[in-house]
Amino acid sequence: MSETAGTPCVLLCVTGCIAAYKSCETARCLQRAGARVKVLMTEHATHFVGPTTFRALTHEKVAVGLFDDPEDPIHHISLAQEADVVLVAPATANILAKMAHGIADDLMSTTLLATKAPIVVAPAMNVGMWEADATQENVRTLQRRGVHVITPDSGYLACGDVGGGRLPDPWRVADLALMAAGEAGPLAGEHVLITAGGTHEPIDPVRFIGNRSSGKMGAALARAASRQGANVTLVLGPASIEPPAGVRCVRVETAAEMLAASEEAFEDATIAICAAAVADYTPAKPADHKLKKTEERLDTVELTETVDILAALSARKGERTVIGFAAETSNVVDYALAKLSRKGCDAIVANDVSREDSGFGTDTNKAWWIDADGTHEMPCMSKEGLAYEILRRATKS
Ligand code: PMT
Repeated sequence: MSETAGTPCVLLCVTGCIAAYKSCETARCLQRAGARVKVLMTEHATHFVGPTTFRALTHEKVAVGLFDDPEDPIHHISLAQEADVVLVAPATANILAKMAHGIADDLMSTTLLATKAPIVVAPAMNVGMWEADATQENVRTLQRRGVHVITPDSGYLACGDVGGGRLPDPWRVADLALMAAGEAGPLAGEHVLITAGGTHEPIDPVRFIGNRSSGKMGAALARAASRQGANVTLVLGPASIEPPAGVRCVRVETAAEMLAASEEAFEDATIAICAAAVADYTPAKPADHKLKKTEERLDTVELTETVDILAALSARKGERTVIGFAAETSNVVDYALAKLSRKGCDAIVANDVSREDSGFGTDTNKAWWIDADGTHEMPCMSKEGLAYEILRRATKS
């Protein structure tokens, strides 16, 4: 067990695969979630990332060879005993095969055979190798024995093929490892309300005023909060994404419906994050029949202002933490600062929606965190990664 009470010790096993570089980020995610991380690499893995990098990140010795540590002649046993959870990420087809067949011919395979700690593997490899009968049979064998297998993502692979075999986002890998270690999650006990997606404001039964929000940013926040143990309500307007599993989702259409659902969920919330792109205006008198172009005026629609949900929640936030977003195309930080004081929330996540890799519909986002302590610029990153950053800052964890 870990020397530090309450701090889980994760033994991160890195095997020889191009995705080994992602393990540096996985190590950081584990640390940010409060874990102590020790790294064990195969000889092959050191061709992709140097042990020095992991030593600098973890401030711990990095284990590679069976006989590297003269002070610890049975290193595989001490590593196996110290870990609260063993995470193999990335896991090659080779290490899966060794684990399935009990082969113990180096430090990693002997440690994996010796440990009594829960084992989580995150396979990453070429799609052909992943789908091969031998690999799938080995995976089933490991699952039967209680090893947690994180299904690889599908997409573009380093070898040029497209298909299953990509290592999932480091945050996801880190979360699943900590959950296998029996960690309650840093957000256990929190009730998080998230608004996401756009709104459709009806002009008549078939036409509406809407926007390009896909719901991805809000869904990433909901997923990350839920994975960290929070009770999550996602108030989701029209969007192209499916709500994440394990999250209570209330589907709405208009700004008025989003306001009503948000106010209801706010009663039990400890944190609210307004990531939705809510229409600022709605048609004053939506028609109850399809307007006829030839008979009725369609070139002018009288609009009325919607209620600002973020401002309404902030006005009665009490002890809760309320976070807003600001979608800007220029002077991002200045406009967001003005929104922070106008809306009365605790912090604003300002995102630059003029960039191709940021804002509406993208998988990545370029954002700044702005609160009473100042402005913090973040690099352009996956919406998943940004979601964890936002939650970490919102809870000051
Ligand atoms: O959904 P994706 O495709 O992933 O895109 C993500 C996103 C770009 C929509 C998201 O990152 C984002 O920026 N959301 C806020 C969009 C927006 O409407 O920004 P705004 O600057 O107009 O509004 C400021 C804040 O007030 C937002 O928190 C908004 O939710 C809130 N607001 C605005 C109007 C209104 N009537 N009620 C509100 O709550």
